[in-house]
Amino acid sequence: MLVGLVRPGVFRHITCRNSVYPRSNVTRYPVPDKFVFWTVNYEGYSPPCYTAGHIGGQSWADEPLPSEKNQPHWNHNDDIVNRVSFHGEYQIKDGLPQNPIGRTGLCGRGLLGRWGPNHAADPIVTRWKRDDKAEFVWHKTSGKKILQMVAIQRSDNKLWAIPGGMVDPGENVSVTLKREFTEEALNFADKGNMVEQFFKEGGVHVYSGYVDDFRNTDNAWMETTALNFHDEEGTKVGQLQLNAGDDATNVRWTDVDANLKLHANHADILQEVVAMRNAHW
Ligand code: BGC
Repeated sequence: MLVGLVRPGVFRHITCRNSVYPRSNVTRYPVPDKFVFWTVNYEGYSPPCYTAGHIGGQSWADEPLPSEKNQPHWNHNDDIVNRVSFHGEYQIKDGLPQNPIGRTGLCGRGLLGRWGPNHAADPIVTRWKRDDKAEFVWHKTSGKKILQMVAIQRSDNKLWAIPGGMVDPGENVSVTLKREFTEEALNFADKGNMVEQFFKEGGVHVYSGYVDDFRNTDNAWMETTALNFHDEEGTKVGQLQLNAGDDATNVRWTDVDANLKLHANHADILQEVVAMRNAHW
């Protein structure tokens, strides 16, 4: 697992710094690498606060500011909202959760619904690249088999990504994984029991933790649980016709290698799968 490696430069904390916040004209307060960690004093640090208006009143979002009588149960999972971070107990500063990695140059929730961790799930669906005789394709230089993954193009930032999504209140992560894959990559088309069965057979756990997401703030951030669902023979999900839906504008089987540019830190997560399956990178 990558959890132990979470720090800037190794595990990225880059896309949530030094930029204009998405879907707004709010510029983040500059945070150079040396001032990321809260333990380092950053004289004069005064990030603007921003919470997008449209998240108010949404069923998936918290109240604007936790008040005396409405105190979310920080660092707890009440089986409806999971406020537990994969990185241990987070600090509450001035009544609000503090990003466990460090400064982002923005306070408030931005586009995120929850104060503190916002949980997502990412199904990494893979197969081996094959030629038209269904034989494996071996990479000329590395001599290894080439992994292919189902990637979607996100409609919000146009980047290619794992077809993941937010864990709904009270939802089990295993349900989110199948639901998001079906919605985003298959567009609800009826694929019978095969997809159901493929996911039921279980995936291999790859990563649980912080995501370097462009929406993160000092008080709200993304965390994900990523599992690999691999179709070794290419006879199950590996054969399906993909069809973009929901938050995806495109979907495709993509060759996996070191040049693949993906949303947030999805490429780092994918690299774990490559190592596990001894595939070309
Ligand atoms: C996406 C996940 C991603 C998470 C963090 C969610 O919106 O659906 O794939 O891991 O954001 O970036």
